[in-house]
Amino acid sequence: MSTRHILVAVAWPYASGSRHLGHLAGAYLPADIFARYHRIRGNAVLMVSGSDVHGTPITVRADAEGVAPQVIVDRYHAEIVAAWEAVGISWDLYTTTGTENHHRVTQEMFLALLEKGLLEKRTTDQLYDPEAKRFLPDRYVEGTCPHCGYENARGDQCDNCGRTLDPTDLISPRSTISGATPEYRSTEHYFLLLSKQAAALKEWLESKTTWRRHVRNWALGMIEEGLPDRAITRDIEWGVEVPVDDLGPGKRIYVWFDAVIGYLSAAKEWASSTNDPDAWEEWWTDPEAESYYFVGKDNIPFHTVIWPAMLLGHGDLNLPTNVPANQYVTFGSEKASASRGVGRSIGWYAERLEPDAIRYALGSVLPEQNDTDLSDSELIRRVNEELVATWGNLVNRVLNLTHRNFDGKTPPTPRSTPDDEALLSAVDGAFDDVASFIESVELRAGLRRIMETAAAVNVYLNAEEPWKMVKDDPERAGSILSTALSAIAGISVLLEPYLPFTSPLVREMLAVSEDGLVWARPGLTASTPLGEIHPLFEKLMGDELD
Ligand code: MF3
Ligand code: ZN
Repeated sequence: MSTRHILVAVAWPYASGSRHLGHLAGAYLPADIFARYHRIRGNAVLMVSGSDVHGTPITVRADAEGVAPQVIVDRYHAEIVAAWEAVGISWDLYTTTGTENHHRVTQEMFLALLEKGLLEKRTTDQLYDPEAKRFLPDRYVEGTCPHCGYENARGDQCDNCGRTLDPTDLISPRSTISGATPEYRSTEHYFLLLSKQAAALKEWLESKTTWRRHVRNWALGMIEEGLPDRAITRDIEWGVEVPVDDLGPGKRIYVWFDAVIGYLSAAKEWASSTNDPDAWEEWWTDPEAESYYFVGKDNIPFHTVIWPAMLLGHGDLNLPTNVPANQYVTFGSEKASASRGVGRSIGWYAERLEPDAIRYALGSVLPEQNDTDLSDSELIRRVNEELVATWGNLVNRVLNLTHRNFDGKTPPTPRSTPDDEALLSAVDGAFDDVASFIESVELRAGLRRIMETAAAVNVYLNAEEPWKMVKDDPERAGSILSTALSAIAGISVLLEPYLPFTSPLVREMLAVSEDGLVWARPGLTASTPLGEIHPLFEKLMGDELD
């Protein structure tokens, strides 16, 4: 069988502000768990993303600070890269949409769609600010959403109902620059003819029966409501240049059109740094290759309808295998939104908590089906009562007992019982269960299954009480501890995708080599000297996040 090729495509964060735990739980952590798991399985993973440096989120911020857009981009790109590093997001490439390569790939896509008759130049009326004397694309205008009545909808999307909008869709629009009521002015733009592709998209989406229901329903609902053709250029000076010269000056490609192309351009950039510049094709043109797009709920329209429409139109590139979009993590019941300043940054948490503690707490509340609320006290509780109590203490206790009573070596197992075997086969069984949870992107259930396995080891130890036998029946005590050490070795492999900082430390303490690590319980060799013990996690005092 040939190697499975798995593209892990992760939403491109705007380099317009700090990213927070909601983003981490929404897209980056799940993508990273999924990618790490597939690497352990020996699959060929390509995990890419980068900072989204175009569009009005950047220019609005730059205007507010009175600096050039590139100043904003450089500042937040650096901060975001540091955040990924701090929490261990294992990119194959994290780039930006500001590269020459990305601009070229975007322009090639534009020309390919133009050639296929899927783009059309039209004269349209767009909103214009008579005071600021400029057009008002996207976030330069806010108003009432025509679908749900939310009064602070943005010109590109409604934060309340999630629908994608054009500024001209808004009821009672107002300029975010001057507060003025915009006028209409005519201007020429290129449109993506989504209406031509509605039938093909519908058929494709209907075949995706294993997708998360909320994702598929949303996408099918968009098509049901009628897919309008969408302008993919803007009256703005910041963005990828339009590769045809019949629009006149002052126009750029719309940020969302270029950003989704980032998945492809990043794959090409990655390949060009290897010794095979065509290697990207293995993830994009081989029909057997798989692609998973990890995004938050507000990105669903672009990944389930607009990007697939572009790919279908292009004709030679793979469509998403799955878009396991997450709902929101809320903090005190408010959606954490970068532009509205709710929630603290990833870096802020990473300065105060160990990365695996953050990963554990978020991993156990991933909003895969519903919005999930997370408070600082709940985060701390999960670390102390679950991660430390069930797992960290287990590792410590078994290793300490072994060091103290068996000379720091894996004890031999002359006296195994069916209970020992039952425990080890429960651990072995967890490998299949966790694999199928992760493959179907039920990562939260996967973590729960692993923690149940750790809890089973605690139950076993409490029933067997090896500490009471070390004097009178050392052979049996050694067999019990050896069984527990084997179970712990297995659990450390199960946890590797979730807790990549501390799981290797467990194996180091167990003297299990990282070479040839596979998705199975590693065998322990009796009488091998164990590594030095160090605690895996610190118990939190509770004031770390005050
Ligand atoms: N920058 C967008 C956001 O933060 C996401 C872009 S994802 C991609 O919501 F599809 F464009 F890549
Ligand atoms: Zn709305």
